[in-house]
Amino acid sequence: MRSLIAGNWKMHGTLAWAGDQVRRLTEKTRDGLPCDVLVCPPATLLSTVAGPLRDAGILLGAQDCHHETRGAFTGDIAATMLADLGCSHVLVGHSERRSFHRESSHDVRKKAMAAHRAGLVAIICIGEDRNERRAGKAFDTTAEQLARSLPAGATAANTVIAWEPVWAIGTGDSANVPDVLAMHRFLKQQLMTLLGDGVRLLYGGSVNPSNSRELLDIEQVDGLLIGGASLDPERFWQIATDGAPD
Ligand code: PGA
Repeated sequence: MRSLIAGNWKMHGTLAWAGDQVRRLTEKTRDGLPCDVLVCPPATLLSTVAGPLRDAGILLGAQDCHHETRGAFTGDIAATMLADLGCSHVLVGHSERRSFHRESSHDVRKKAMAAHRAGLVAIICIGEDRNERRAGKAFDTTAEQLARSLPAGATAANTVIAWEPVWAIGTGDSANVPDVLAMHRFLKQQLMTLLGDGVRLLYGGSVNPSNSRELLDIEQVDGLLIGGASLDPERFWQIATDGAPD
């Protein structure tokens, strides 16, 4: 399966900064892309970066969407609006949304459904926190989040799953290879039962150019979701080149 390397800029970036980022990133794509590369900037930057990224063959994604198409939802953005701006993907259920905005898997499922209705690929994020892992509940937690977050109509074509253990996000403490292998094997089995074969499963959490190669070498890892390291085009590109087929 072709790897997907996705950068999540979170709440970072002004127009000037984004222009510079995209220029530095797209300069590297002259000889083509090593794998599928996706950038998810904050909503304020989507329209500015859409054109240059599209010209370079880089995919554009948003970080969240509302589950309704329109209405009195101050501050929210509909999936259809994101599609209108040129997005092909949207993250839903990122752990920062689940914790800071108290989004449940039920909410995430509605958002994923809205993304599908708008023709977007939903990247559904799941992951256990440190206490759940310590208590031996990592597998139960992720299985439950997965089953509850997947909407009817989800397929390998319109859905990507990202396992991002909360304890690994932004901590510099990436999950180790045996833990990633065990969780990805488990989640692939779950996905096989729920959706069938071929669903991309990404790993996320403190990915950087020093660990990306060994993570991508794990058989069940179909790509990476990158926060901090995606803010530096050189580091992000280095990770993307590790996504090239052997
Ligand atoms: P990180 O973030 O790479 O900075 O750990 C990953 C994410 O939250 O998607």
